[in-house]
Amino acid sequence: MNISRIRTTDSGEGEYTDLFEAIAQNIAQKGYSIHHNAMHPALAESLLLNVQNMEETQFKAAGVGRENKYTVNSFVRTDEVCWIMGETDVEQDWLEWAGTLQRFLNRRLFLGLFSFESHFAHYAPGNFYKKHKDAFKGEANRVLSLIVYLNPSWQPEDGGELLIHTDLTTQPEIKVTPGFGTVVLFLSEEFPHEVLRTNRDRYSIAGWFRVNSSCTERVDPAL
Ligand code: OGA
Ligand code: MN
Repeated sequence: MNISRIRTTDSGEGEYTDLFEAIAQNIAQKGYSIHHNAMHPALAESLLLNVQNMEETQFKAAGVGRENKYTVNSFVRTDEVCWIMGETDVEQDWLEWAGTLQRFLNRRLFLGLFSFESHFAHYAPGNFYKKHKDAFKGEANRVLSLIVYLNPSWQPEDGGELLIHTDLTTQPEIKVTPGFGTVVLFLSEEFPHEVLRTNRDRYSIAGWFRVNSSCTERVDPAL
């Protein structure tokens, strides 16, 4: 693939074109993509300040399942989340970045990504998220998971790694350190994954690109 052939002038991709192209190639070839120090430090720093300055009351214990099946299950996960609605300039910048990636991937891979939802997540020391998938076959909604980590100078003893389970015999588990600016994507239906117990406050954003699975009975996603 000749990266220089990609047009950037009218799309706002600018400095992220090489990253977006690498993501597209990885997703097409193996279904996941991992990049360290990939998010611009100024944006990652602003997002970290944004989440650290949020009131504890804005966070809610994270749940499992959708809509009427949604329950808080502290056996499965113990983190707290806060959905990003674009209420601050930084949140707007984040949504713009994700939107630019969405348009790029739609153009490049014809994915038909239709909407994006994301939340800040805070794992306090001792928190974890057990092995799960972000979407299930047949539900056709969450297509692509995106995680960005906001933790400066993460050390091996801090734990809290993301483990992505693959069906490859060569590399059945991929371990990702949740270091500052690391960007991870994977196909939501394909990869079970888990967050190992963290020994330090761990901040991230998790987001999902969705397709429009509306049918006559149900409008989904609810807009
Ligand atoms: C999730 C998730 C992984 C992480 O929120 O669904 O799997 O590393 N997060 O924060
Ligand atoms: Mn997940």
